[in-house]
Amino acid sequence: MEDWISIGYLLSAALFIFGLKKLGHPRTAPFGNQLGAMGMLVAVVTTVVSMQLAGNAQWELIIAGLVVGSLIGYWMAVKVEMTGMPELVAMFNGFGGAASALVALSEIQKYISNADLVPDGLELTVTMIAAGLSALVGWMTLTGSLLAMYKLKGGIEVFGKWIRTPTWGPSWLNPVKVLLLLSVFVMIFLSIEEPTNQNYLWGIIGVSCLLGIVLVLPIGGADMPVVVSLLNSLSGIAAAFTGFIIGNSVLIIAGSLVGASGLILTFIMCKAMNRTLLDVLFKSFGGDGEKQALTRTKVGSDPDEVAMMLDGAQKVIIVPGYGMAVSQCQHAVKEFADLMKEKFDTEIKYAIHPVAGRMPGHMNVLLAEANVPYEQLIEMDEINSEFPECDVALVIGANDTTNPAARSGEGPLAGMPIIDADAARTVVIIKRSLSVGYAGVDNDLFYMDKTMMLFGDGKAMMTGLNTAVKEI
Ligand code: TAP
Repeated sequence: MEDWISIGYLLSAALFIFGLKKLGHPRTAPFGNQLGAMGMLVAVVTTVVSMQLAGNAQWELIIAGLVVGSLIGYWMAVKVEMTGMPELVAMFNGFGGAASALVALSEIQKYISNADLVPDGLELTVTMIAAGLSALVGWMTLTGSLLAMYKLKGGIEVFGKWIRTPTWGPSWLNPVKVLLLLSVFVMIFLSIEEPTNQNYLWGIIGVSCLLGIVLVLPIGGADMPVVVSLLNSLSGIAAAFTGFIIGNSVLIIAGSLVGASGLILTFIMCKAMNRTLLDVLFKSFGGDGEKQALTRTKVGSDPDEVAMMLDGAQKVIIVPGYGMAVSQCQHAVKEFADLMKEKFDTEIKYAIHPVAGRMPGHMNVLLAEANVPYEQLIEMDEINSEFPECDVALVIGANDTTNPAARSGEGPLAGMPIIDADAARTVVIIKRSLSVGYAGVDNDLFYMDKTMMLFGDGKAMMTGLNTAVKEI
């Protein structure tokens, strides 16, 4: 029977790996997701069967956990708004890290009282080191993720500005972080020297929780998705340590996959924002910081005027941003594309910036939901050369990702690659005001002579534009 248990774990690990592979492309991603879920089901069933065989399956607890967990998961999945997804992911990471650390804690307590229980091939010392590292990463991930979730939500009024201000990270805080980290390593060492003294374990947990808070506290909202991705990676690493302690191969594999993929995503995001991971962790950037004061004005246009200009356009590139997600106007955008194709045989493409919106792939997910063909979603690097030959760049709720200030060497956006919407013959921008984007920097694109501003909510403006185009 042991062999069947191993085969079950091998199958679930294979499903995770193939699932991840399929997640690499939007078209195959839903199937990848299903493969991953299936892998998890196989892992859970295999674990429960192996517990039953070992005679230590507590069915009341297992069933209660499955029912309560499934109900909460279902409720959250149904209730969450697309714009609230990063917060939800942050919370899941935190709980994942804490769950791994709790399992490690309960196992290590058993091993301390009876060294015979340590899995074959391991020694108590090794499991103590793994438990210490699992506690460090797991508890740090819990408090860091909860704080990240709180920051993404915009903070609770009571603490408001004090906690949200990214500059609340005086330089003396950095040595404190290093000291806290070192003290955890010292406590792990001491816990090995004196395994029966539980105070070290509690000390590791307390300091790790504090470390999560001081690490995330100074980081600004604009960098938060990067931090969430990093914490996601850490939650995987905590799971891998715990898998090592309980001798569970699938937990080691799944944890390593989460750890590696989270880290890769973190670096992809850093590259797209032209920031190093160290800058993200130790220097503040936009989000809740100082917003640039607006000194210029611009007269707005109306949908009829824009529709007249669109009459006969041969090529339109749509540039979506966070405002499209907020106003949920992706279906109206698709309707606009269909109308333009039908009326003027216009070529329509979508320019996708890697960090448009508030999470990786945010725009792709929304546009896919509105049945926009994948072939029309073009990555920034590929589409930028097409703007000079495009009649109209229609920017919908995008700001930082189109801001020419990024090309200068100064300011929070300096060096960030942007969508070259300003190279189009005419630019139409839909947003509610001239207000700044996430990085707090005023956008020259709004004030160019060739730019028409459609001031208003994304959905209302797109609906108005569609009506006006139909009437031409
Ligand atoms: P932003 O710069 O965040 O600007 C979005 C604009 O949407 C705002 O200026 C806002 O202007 C407008 N808006 C809000 N609600 C709207 C509504 N209901 N209707 C129409 N417009 C609305 O957007 P972006 O260009 O997508 O840039 C994303 C930012 O997030 C970047 O700074 C990026 O670095 C940061 N970030 C993203 C990620 C990921 S993974 N996506 C990760 C880290 C950081 P009004 O208030 O005037 O309407």
